[in-house]
Amino acid sequence: MTTRTLYLLCSAAPPVFEVAGVVAEAQRRGWDVCLGLTPTAADWLEDSLSGLTALTGHPVRSRYKRPGDSDVWPKADAILVAPATFNTVNAWALGLTDRFVVGVVAEAIGKEIPMAVMPCVNSAYARHRALDRSLQELRDMGVEVLYGESGFEPNAPGEKRPYPWALALDSVDRLVG
Ligand SMILES: Cc1cc2nc3c(=O)[nH]c(=O)nc-3n(C[C@H](O)[C@H](O)[C@H](O)COP(=O)(O)O)c2cc1C
Repeated sequence: MTTRTLYLLCSAAPPVFEVAGVVAEAQRRGWDVCLGLTPTAADWLEDSLSGLTALTGHPVRSRYKRPGDSDVWPKADAILVAPATFNTVNAWALGLTDRFVVGVVAEAIGKEIPMAVMPCVNSAYARHRALDRSLQELRDMGVEVLYGESGFEPNAPGEKRPYPWALALDSVDRLVG
């Protein structure tokens, strides 16, 4: 029986194509999963959106609701942002909330919802000073950052490497005990 709600929020990096298996594994671990995508990630997964809606049992969201519309997701017990692009990490740290998933996690800091983020960036993005600055901001605001030895290690540009989804799910399992 599922008793805990996980918001799985994904941005547009290649591991997003593995999200159906990740949802299934999270459900196996007892999570009720609500899937949110950045507009670019939703575009990449366009052909899978109805299947992902059926799998999660909730609408897959990539846009803010309109004023007056009711909330379609239950409240989150934890949030996992993965894969998190360079763009999404920086927007979150700076508080630039024009995209739905960034708005959710920006507010969730103030709501004190347990959160983890696992970036997906290559070693060229990783050398841009904004990345370390943003990740430190997120850590300082209480977000568990899965990067480096304890999470995702940047790959060389163009190199394909397995994305450590199990570490990300282990982390949110730990966050809610
Ligand atoms: C094939 C492909 C792979 C990409 N891989 C990554 C990646 O691993 N990490 C990243 O930060 N951006 C990657 N990008 C760039 C992002 O998709 C792009 O910056 C996008 O605007 C991110 O938007 P979002 O953060 O709203 O999802 C990739 C783009 C393409 C076309």
